[in-house]
Amino acid sequence: MDVKIFDTTLRDGEQTPGVSLTPNEKLRIATILSDLGVNVIEAGSAITSEGEREGIKKVVAEDLPAEICSFARAVKVDVDAALECGVDSVHLVVPTSDLHIEHKLRKTREEVKDLAINTTEYAVDQGLLVELSAEDATRSDLDYLTQLFREGIEVGADRICACDTVGMLTPDKSQDFYSKLSKLKKPLSVHCHNDFGLAVANTLSALQAGATQAHVTVNGIGERAGNASLEETVVSLYSLYDVKTDINIEMLYDVSRTVSRITGIPLQPNKAIVGENAFAHESGIHADGVMKKAETYEPITPELVGHKRRFVMGKHVGSHIIKKRIQEMGLEVDDEQFKQIFTRIKSLGDKGKCVTDVDVQAITEDVLGVMAEKVVELEELTVVSGSKVTPTASLRLNIEDKEVLEAGIGIGPVDAAIVAVKKSIKDFADIELEEYHVDAITGGADALIDVVVKLKHNGDIVTARSTQPDIIMASVEAYLSGINKILSTKYVKKVREGDL
Ligand code: KIV
Ligand code: ZN
Repeated sequence: MDVKIFDTTLRDGEQTPGVSLTPNEKLRIATILSDLGVNVIEAGSAITSEGEREGIKKVVAEDLPAEICSFARAVKVDVDAALECGVDSVHLVVPTSDLHIEHKLRKTREEVKDLAINTTEYAVDQGLLVELSAEDATRSDLDYLTQLFREGIEVGADRICACDTVGMLTPDKSQDFYSKLSKLKKPLSVHCHNDFGLAVANTLSALQAGATQAHVTVNGIGERAGNASLEETVVSLYSLYDVKTDINIEMLYDVSRTVSRITGIPLQPNKAIVGENAFAHESGIHADGVMKKAETYEPITPELVGHKRRFVMGKHVGSHIIKKRIQEMGLEVDDEQFKQIFTRIKSLGDKGKCVTDVDVQAITEDVLGVMAEKVVELEELTVVSGSKVTPTASLRLNIEDKEVLEAGIGIGPVDAAIVAVKKSIKDFADIELEEYHVDAITGGADALIDVVVKLKHNGDIVTARSTQPDIIMASVEAYLSGINKILSTKYVKKVREGDL
């Protein structure tokens, strides 16, 4: 059994609250969908607006291999608007539940059936392919629904589609429902919404029961909780049911990112198949297993869908994982340095921070730098800052077993802390801060902060860095690391000469 993919990202997906695509954005997404291998692209609803028609026309003009379809209500003007755009087919929709017929349309079942049949006939006569679709089909009277489809097929409908408009199916009900409709012996589409999180499961059941085409959207976007997601449906079919589609599965991750960027709908990290965490491993046991044999904790390879495996180092991480990552980064650390790195990663994990590879690299480089001879060490730092106070810092430094207390004020808390450091070492060296550079290594308010400083002493420039969760600590530690580089030789010399 092969399954056809009808993508409605540009119609149902565009009905996601807050999403509105320009004609060029529609064209970009349609092109990607066609490259991805979808069989039908529902490019929009031609009757909606001038801009919508412009978008659909652009897609049609591209002459993509996919069938280009417009949504249409069962009225002649909608079909005419679709014809004006030059589409191959119409997704011709009528509500079939009494709830919709009586309360929304204020019509009778017969009137709605007549509209459906007459409009199908009209569209077929105009040379369009017709997918006759029942809205709220899963809450409709089955005899009425079947009769409507039967008559639609008689007047030339090429495919039929039953919509689970508000996601009321369960996998077993879906199996039962679609197997009954499949007796009509016409290509049958399943269209499921995700109100109970069952859209993909219901779609898969329908396909098992005889439906031949799945309506899906990229990332599962759509009205309310969205539609069945293309990537979950296709990869489940491929990996769990051994069912083929024409989708180029290895493009899924990129397509998902692009659609998320264009629509402005972010992906939840734990989204199946394409989420950032879909192939991320944190726990020591899991990461260890994956490194030994990926299948232990990965049902499919990330490469299959164009994704990447990621090891996230949080409080569950094991020491061998970190050792391996450090080695892979081409860095060498001894046991003492490794102990420091491991402790820092674990303590960040305890504070709720997940440490990425970039963070590990920064921490390692930091530790490697910090391991230089320490002449000056920070014992204590207090910083006061706010909207109506002068930023003030007080600190206690240990300079070769001597305690030095100092305080400073500045234009901000970092400046105040640096002023205090400078004052406390003024007897040892005249050091100028030449450059100060700060970077958030990873996104988010809990990002690690990487501070790089360039210090000048007697015409020499020394570069030093520190990476910490706290910008003030990172700044002070970077500054002190630079001072240590400068002072180490000089100070040791002074001690030897008995000056201190
Ligand atoms: O979910 C639905 O019922 C639909 C129809 C309007 C086609 O998207
Ligand atoms: Zn829908």
